[in-house]
Amino acid sequence: GYLSATAQLGASTGSVESTPEQTITILYGSQTGNGRGVASELAEKALAQGYAVNLVSMADYKVRQLKQETLLLAVVSTHGEGEAPDDAIELHKFLASKRAPSLENLHYSVLALGDSSYEFFCQTGKDFEQRLAALGAKSIVPLTECDVDYEAAASTWQQNVLEAVKPLISAASASVVSISSVTSATSSAFTKQKPYSAELLVSQKLTGRDSDRDVRHVEIDLGESGLSYQVGDALGVWFTNSADLVNEIIEQLSLDGATQVTLGDETLSLSQALTEKRELTQLYPGLVQNWAQLSGDEALLALSEDREQTRQFVLNHQLADLVAQYPVDITAFQLVELLRPITPRLYSIASSQSEVESEVHLTVALVEDQRNGTSRFGGASQFLATADEGAEVKVYVEPNNHFRLPENPETPVIMIGPGTGVAPFRAFMQERAVQGATGESWLFFGNPHFEQDFLYQTEWQQYLNDGSLTRLDSAFSRDQAHKIYVQHRITERGEALWQWLENGAHLYICGDAERMAKDVHQALLEVVKQFGGKDDEQAAAYLEALRSDKRYQKDVY
Ligand code: 2AM
Repeated sequence: GYLSATAQLGASTGSVESTPEQTITILYGSQTGNGRGVASELAEKALAQGYAVNLVSMADYKVRQLKQETLLLAVVSTHGEGEAPDDAIELHKFLASKRAPSLENLHYSVLALGDSSYEFFCQTGKDFEQRLAALGAKSIVPLTECDVDYEAAASTWQQNVLEAVKPLISAASASVVSISSVTSATSSAFTKQKPYSAELLVSQKLTGRDSDRDVRHVEIDLGESGLSYQVGDALGVWFTNSADLVNEIIEQLSLDGATQVTLGDETLSLSQALTEKRELTQLYPGLVQNWAQLSGDEALLALSEDREQTRQFVLNHQLADLVAQYPVDITAFQLVELLRPITPRLYSIASSQSEVESEVHLTVALVEDQRNGTSRFGGASQFLATADEGAEVKVYVEPNNHFRLPENPETPVIMIGPGTGVAPFRAFMQERAVQGATGESWLFFGNPHFEQDFLYQTEWQQYLNDGSLTRLDSAFSRDQAHKIYVQHRITERGEALWQWLENGAHLYICGDAERMAKDVHQALLEVVKQFGGKDDEQAAAYLEALRSDKRYQKDVY
């Protein structure tokens, strides 16, 4: 897989004197693949300049090695309220611990990815910076903090570090020129930047007619691409913005869709630029601030100066709302300059290639918000929900080595996946069925209503009948007066769940990160306390040990 790929050049070419001191170690830790993207781009550039590079996920990095490093470039994102992403937790903790060695011989630079709508913006990157400095390491480029529109800042950082590395590394190692070890480590030739043009086979509603939700089962044909994925991976999906949305924005701003605009070295119409090249459905704080300045609106200016209010605003509004509520005078070119490039969305894959071969399946909730009588849709989910059969969908595989079935098919698995979080567990079940896995499996599923929202109900029934699914507990939150969630089922089944864990089960959570995954974690702590006879601290340590043994894995968003 790509995530754990190490591209060690000097070692494989006998002609080059590449001692470990001359290797640039590039570490990345991020939940979404953005960090990996920036880090591997940097690795390719460094390799192209002749440096020996070791590109490693923080999750796979041996902390013991740290004291031998001389050049460390780290790309790390921040998760939730200033927390380290799962794959960075170990290293993050190590750097703050008493075990951390003196790093006087180390040169380093940190690129922090973050989201400025959160209070603890880029916190994990700041922590890395502060701890590396405290251990005596020398910074070669100051900490660079990136917001959600990270591309330009990241690319500047890449240039700066490569410039700063020059005087530090002797030219001796600069004779190796190859990037093949990085690219050959990817699962295929198709990447985020060079996606595969696949064909949409099916986009079919899974939820009932009376459901409040529109959740789709999507099937995509990977044809002859040779694209391969493992269960647990995500699919990156590029999309185009809806014509209605594009027209609405253009009309509100009294612009002309036919106006030619230049983006990089490309000239295209404003309509086309907004449809294919610009992000219209996800706001971010920087844009709200710019818009406030442009409109001069007092209320919006005040709001844009308050972090928490801005954060709520970007979650609940789109560009089209800004355009409608806060008129500005802007040219077509200024508009496209102001907006971020469109970015693909990641979906947890809901199928196994052992079962579906050259297809890939997704479980997609149509994101829809009603505001002032108008529906606003999520860009990619609307695209997938409304695309015709046979439509072109540009896709790539985003590996996720931190959400993997146990190697041993006899190992039991506990899968907690409410809502569309159930997607990877459909893939897990397909994979284990084809493997003829004998390990027990237990699924926790939740959604509003049994009648309307039981995603893939007949498939689970089939698996229960043929014995490949051992237990299924469902939590239909709105079928009774009080809410019942998956964590309530976990609490009710605490004793059995504890036994499963003690029998070596691997535990997986997929779905909502903000509330569900936290509440489930809390319920698990209670189970471990009650049935394991542990206090708060011991229960936390128990789950922490599961996590570091890779027996407790999360794919949450
Ligand atoms: P609700 O919308 O009725 O509150 C999938 O979205 C399911 O997760 C829904 O049944 C939803 O219930 C439920 N859900 C909402 N908040 C949750 C939480 N904090 N923990 C677990 N499930 C939750």
